[in-house]
Amino acid sequence: MNATGPDRYAVAGNPVAHSQSPNIHAQFAAQTGQHLVYERLLCPLDAFLPTVQAFAAAGAKGCNVTVPFKFEAFASARRRSPRAELAGAVNTLRFDEQGWWGDNTDGLGLVRDIQANAGQPLAGLRVLLLGAGGASAGVLGSLIAARPAELTLANRSADKALALVVSHARWAQEHGVRLQASTLQDLPEDRFDVLVNGTSASLAGAGVPVRGQVLREGGLGVDMMYGPQAQGFLDWVAAQGARPRDGLGMLVEQAAEAFQLWRGMRPDTAPVLAGLRAQLA
Ligand code: ATR
Repeated sequence: MNATGPDRYAVAGNPVAHSQSPNIHAQFAAQTGQHLVYERLLCPLDAFLPTVQAFAAAGAKGCNVTVPFKFEAFASARRRSPRAELAGAVNTLRFDEQGWWGDNTDGLGLVRDIQANAGQPLAGLRVLLLGAGGASAGVLGSLIAARPAELTLANRSADKALALVVSHARWAQEHGVRLQASTLQDLPEDRFDVLVNGTSASLAGAGVPVRGQVLREGGLGVDMMYGPQAQGFLDWVAAQGARPRDGLGMLVEQAAEAFQLWRGMRPDTAPVLAGLRAQLA
């Protein structure tokens, strides 16, 4: 806590009006007795850095960063966690006196939601990640760190999948994970235990980006999105005889990781996730 009031945090992005982060962090703060406020920081598209700099100069302690600024946030951090380096993107900044610390908690949040909340192990299994854009880049390192036997990154355009696989090749080798790139068209059928959709196909109105039975019966199919955009994918997962899971758990878990980075303590995510589900139902 600073002398003039509660510690300040925010979600910086454009748009931020519909972000659930202020709601989530307010619940974390109440639950843990932390004296803080969490705001929305709308940054003009050409003024991410000055807007966040002004926020920090006013005494704020840190911020989350959302679209479209995760790459600028990466560049703005003087020091970064290994997972942020791997992702090439930062979603959490802590305004340390010796320079901003940048982290990326998206992947940790996804993995924790899959393992702890959905009860689905990853170690030794076959995992398929769809998409090679910012969302997938943000989580690939953490998925590898969960040590699946095999991780296939499939994308519409082969070059982007290959680039992500190459940039994560050493990390995969260090973790004993067979990492490979594929196009969406060339995916083998009926193989994967866990499938994660990191594409924006549903936003483009294109529906489910993959054809055929690529998920084994009883497997888990996760969309990183939540709400109506995720529904088509989740229905498709259920129709494959697999368990569908939206991105709401990942959202809460990545927030919990950021909260821990800032405050040094882990909130209980279960009631927050349940409340959010009820609210958004
Ligand atoms: P984000 O930051 O949300 O990941 P992005 O960086 O623009 O957004 O990446 C979007 C991802 O969704 C990409 O992997 C994109 O595939 P391409 O690299 O081939 O463009 C994927 N995507 C978008 N629309 C798609 C569609 N209709 N079918 C399949 N993949 C799609």
